[in-house]
Amino acid sequence: MNNNPIGIFDSGVGGLSVLQQIRRRLPLENFIYVADSAFAPYGDKPELWVEQRCIDITRFLTDQQAKAIVLACNTATAAAVSRLRSLFDQPIVAMEPAIKPAAGLSRSRVVGILATAGTIASEKYSRLINRFQHDCRFISQPCPGLVEEIEQGQLNSAAIEILLQKYITPLLDQHADTLVLGCTHYPLIAEQIKSIAGRSVNVIDGNAAVAAELERQLLQHQLSNSSTSQGAPVEQFWSSGNPASASGIFTRLWNNTVQASRLPAELMQE
Ligand code: DGL
Repeated sequence: MNNNPIGIFDSGVGGLSVLQQIRRRLPLENFIYVADSAFAPYGDKPELWVEQRCIDITRFLTDQQAKAIVLACNTATAAAVSRLRSLFDQPIVAMEPAIKPAAGLSRSRVVGILATAGTIASEKYSRLINRFQHDCRFISQPCPGLVEEIEQGQLNSAAIEILLQKYITPLLDQHADTLVLGCTHYPLIAEQIKSIAGRSVNVIDGNAAVAAELERQLLQHQLSNSSTSQGAPVEQFWSSGNPASASGIFTRLWNNTVQASRLPAELMQE
């Protein structure tokens, strides 16, 4: 039994969509969440920059005694997961776009994938697509601007609606009947995506699979917390963005009052 926190991070608030699933599955665990909002989006930054940033944030989380790390960002996973696993002893659980389940679900055999330019350009992503493209067509759709809008916390904004129309319509025109949300920010606007795509289109993400994998890894490494004796489990929130506006956005998206702390000064420089 181990009641140390699990560290979870993303370029911003997108990883909250992953934390929601994890919290449901692991009600007794404590969490430290880092949103690197001052440096979002990661999707248009060089891979090596993202890798170094992920190392620095993971070090911060392990300094806070994190017993496991969840890389709740597809772009960061593509850029950094191998290096993180070679540098840190803690289990590192990372994202994978839900390509395999999408290939299983699609009847039209056309799947649209919404992701960042960084994820789509990565080698890891190409390898994943190659594994399943023998009998299914995958259309990769980068979505510039979407993460920045979601970071504002106004999930029903007209700007988001316009961007979604622009990115989803061409996929539907090419008969995609399944959409993969390949960026952890996008499940936060799943309802808007579904309403544009229509009821006959499957909209899926990899968040539940990550929660299941985290549970499996905690059990395997005997790191689970099964004790209820130290009171209610907690989530602590940190951000590289302005703490007051970060607290407001977290509070809205997490449905609970959140006081975000600012990351230490050494993490505030590029
Ligand atoms: N949530 C990140 C992802 O899953 C967003 C990337 C970004 O900051 O561009 O890819």
